[in-house]
Amino acid sequence: MSPQDRIDEQRAATNPLFNDRKLKLGTFCTNLSGGCTMSAADGMLDCDWPSTTRLAQLADAMEFEALVPVGRWKGFGGNTDFNGSGFECYTWAAGISALTKYPAVFATSHVPTVHPVMAAKQAMTIDHISQGRFTLNIVTGWFAPEFEMFGAPFLDHDRRYEMAAEWITIIKRLWTEEEEFDFEGKFYQVKKAIMRPKPVQKPHPVVMCAGASPAGREFAAKYADVGFTALEAHDPDSMRARVDSHRKYAWDEHRRNLMVWTNAYIFQGETEKEARDYYRYCVFEKGDWPGVENLVSIMGINSQSFAPNMLATLKEHFIAGWNGYPLIGTKEQIVDGLLTLSKAGFDGTLLSWPRYIEGMEEFQRVTYPLVQQAGLRG
Ligand SMILES: Cc1cc2nc3c(=O)[nH]c(=O)nc-3n(C[C@H](O)[C@H](O)[C@H](O)COP(=O)(O)O)c2cc1C
Repeated sequence: MSPQDRIDEQRAATNPLFNDRKLKLGTFCTNLSGGCTMSAADGMLDCDWPSTTRLAQLADAMEFEALVPVGRWKGFGGNTDFNGSGFECYTWAAGISALTKYPAVFATSHVPTVHPVMAAKQAMTIDHISQGRFTLNIVTGWFAPEFEMFGAPFLDHDRRYEMAAEWITIIKRLWTEEEEFDFEGKFYQVKKAIMRPKPVQKPHPVVMCAGASPAGREFAAKYADVGFTALEAHDPDSMRARVDSHRKYAWDEHRRNLMVWTNAYIFQGETEKEARDYYRYCVFEKGDWPGVENLVSIMGINSQSFAPNMLATLKEHFIAGWNGYPLIGTKEQIVDGLLTLSKAGFDGTLLSWPRYIEGMEEFQRVTYPLVQQAGLRG
């Protein structure tokens, strides 16, 4: 057993991300208005506590492994100001942890908005509230207007990852070291830093990163346990190649096992036609096209994950569900799609529905039993 395997085994005692289910599941962006769907269609998610807790409890009942909130400080304008109303991630995670039993509860943290000493302490506290289910999702940010709210300089792309490397180094030391330490970096200097008690998870809580650029991928491989990858293409071979390259890079460069997840959106109907009609209605009739234009133009400048021409073709998928993998059709077709993701090698996928609560209730009632029968959750 490698040292990394031993670490994973320790955390598996409390964090379900390490269970042996074939395809792990999670929810995405239940803390923000609109959830993952940029549309003015009826029934999109409101940002209120009863809705977000209802979704967390549905996920808990199906033993989903992950509840991943999105870190967002401002909406995208357009027709719906998508994601403009939202709960802050650490405090959301603390509350949700107290109300759930099974899933790993994530907080998504924009590096420059939280000092690492504060982030380490908040994360440790949530790890105790959740009894070892906390996971820290590190994001360096790309939506420049929200950083202007903090009055902080928005660094160049790769410098943001350099800063993140110092940030997580300090956090991991606070989580694991018993003695006071000094840290003298380019971005942070800390004196006689110490943190007690230690987190429940040993040696420390699970870390996730969704960086996809070369610098983001290097950061994820070196510091994260879970890498999220957004997809540029949906055919099985490209997806398999993407998963393999993430995993191989982490192993070859850093001898680390990286779990690889993605995100998918579900439009389900009694018939495929019904599902496709609803998709067309949400995306093409009621979709927030001015909002998505704002999103991709800023993402195109500030992230290096997608070529700008590629982003233009992905607008439809950003509207339908944060550029997730499309799961559109009958319950049987949804299960087939999940099998395809599993065969491509993904450890897990986040899910979202346009009418989030209604969609997830239907999933629990009619689709989840088929997912289990298909052997994905045994
Ligand atoms: C599943 C997932 C979750 C993400 N969550 C957030 C988030 O909450 N806030 C944010 O600003 N960016 C988020 N991102 C964006 C990434 O952190 C990253 O900035 C983006 O994929 C661009 O990669 P790059 O920074 O390596 O260029 C997320 C991406 C994915 C795929």
